[in-house]
Amino acid sequence: MILDRFRLTDQVAIVTGAGRGIGQGIALAYAEAGADIVCAARTPAQIEETAEQVRAFGRRALAVPTDVLERSQLESLVARTLDEFGRVDLLVNNAGGWPPKPALRTREKEFEEAFRFNVTTAFLLTRLVVPKMVETAGAGAVVNISSVAGREISPGFVAYGTAKAALSFMTRELAQDFAPKVRVNAIAVGSIETEALGTVLTDEIREEMIRLTPMARLGQVEDIAACALYLASPAASYVTGEIYGVNGGLVALNMKMPRAFE
Ligand SMILES: NC(=O)c1ccc[n+]([C@@H]2O[C@H](COP(=O)([O-])OP(=O)(O)OC[C@H]3O[C@@H](n4cnc5c(N)ncnc54)[C@H](OP(=O)(O)O)[C@@H]3O)[C@@H](O)[C@H]2O)c1
Repeated sequence: MILDRFRLTDQVAIVTGAGRGIGQGIALAYAEAGADIVCAARTPAQIEETAEQVRAFGRRALAVPTDVLERSQLESLVARTLDEFGRVDLLVNNAGGWPPKPALRTREKEFEEAFRFNVTTAFLLTRLVVPKMVETAGAGAVVNISSVAGREISPGFVAYGTAKAALSFMTRELAQDFAPKVRVNAIAVGSIETEALGTVLTDEIREEMIRLTPMARLGQVEDIAACALYLASPAASYVTGEIYGVNGGLVALNMKMPRAFE
């Protein structure tokens, strides 16, 4: 059965940023497909809530309060996963993000923080998890949550876009490093209705974004979860180093920011 190739039966997945939004959507999709889930984010109540929903699918769940910016917390996330489940098969580097801001107002510290949040944290956690995947499960898969802003250029996105472009490129690099044991892919996410997007949405901006999106709507977390499930599953066992666009057909960003000298 071809659908069997989309199952994650008895695999163990770590999902960062699993308390809400895209990370929660991916955690629940993986649970529905048969995986046990380690939910990592900073807000205990939110990751506990996701863990409860995972258990409702009959799977095991562990909520580990984690700030991905703290290396020691990444180390204890991996240690607690192995203590609880004895193996790790899948990693989703989803925690990330950064608001758009004009280039000339973007401070050095902000530029570096955007890079650290979106790229370095994913690098550090991947470096910790991949040897454990091979040791405990024999193989594995990593899915990085990148952005269409890391592919298309636009004023106002110098910090976020540059960081996500680096995350996408790192995905391709690491896929080469870790083949054939561990596959590494990314999703170039478009505008998805989450709390993070909500912070920049007004009715007017929402209408403009929809108008500029070929598929004429904003995305839902399930749109991303479906792709993340494919990339993690045996259905994608011949896919590595790819950046899959799930963005309603965008070939240019759908959020317009002013140029520096307009
Ligand atoms: N939504 C979009 O339109 C969109 C578009 C392109 C790409 N993306 C990407 O998709 C990913 C998720 O975005 P989202 O829209 O789902 O955001 P969201 O709804 O704000 O959720 C973000 C999740 O990440 C967690 N998080 C934030 N800072 C963290 C930290 N330092 N350590 C650990 N966890 C942290 C949050 O929980 P705590 O605050 O409790 O830690 C929350 O669970 C990001 O990488 C973002 O760049 C989103």
